[in-house]
Amino acid sequence: MRYLFALLLTVSCAAHASPFQGDAKAGQKLFNELKCNSCHINMYGGDGSAIFTRPNSKVHNPAQLISQIGRCGGNVDKDFSTQEEQNIAAYLNRYYNFK
Ligand code: HEC
Repeated sequence: MRYLFALLLTVSCAAHASPFQGDAKAGQKLFNELKCNSCHINMYGGDGSAIFTRPNSKVHNPAQLISQIGRCGGNVDKDFSTQEEQNIAAYLNRYYNFK
């Protein structure tokens, strides 16, 4: 029984594997503080997150997500550190699910 539990735990962790070396919580905090969704809300309504799941998304791989975060950082006058980009990517990966 204990082995089964360990196995399930391993499988579920693998399902959450992320290519980003970031702290999703810190990324979420930054995203909210900088009001990243303000423009996205104007474009897509709701909480703005539909921009991440739109069918014509510009983001198809982890590298594109990182570079879009960098570009959009310019929209809020922010020059993100590599770590900050990784943190926000780790947070936004809830929409992209890159492995
Ligand atoms: C001034 C308005 C504005 C702000 C503020 C803004 N964005 Fe964006 N964002 C856009 C626009 C416009 C696009 C679509 C770009 C395109 O289609 O080439 C976009 C697209 C994106 C995408 C890609 C969506 C997809 O899958 O196609 C990501 C990721 C993103 N923004 C992250 C952020 C983050 C992180 C912040 C905060 C640091 C932020 N944005 C702040 C305007 C903004």
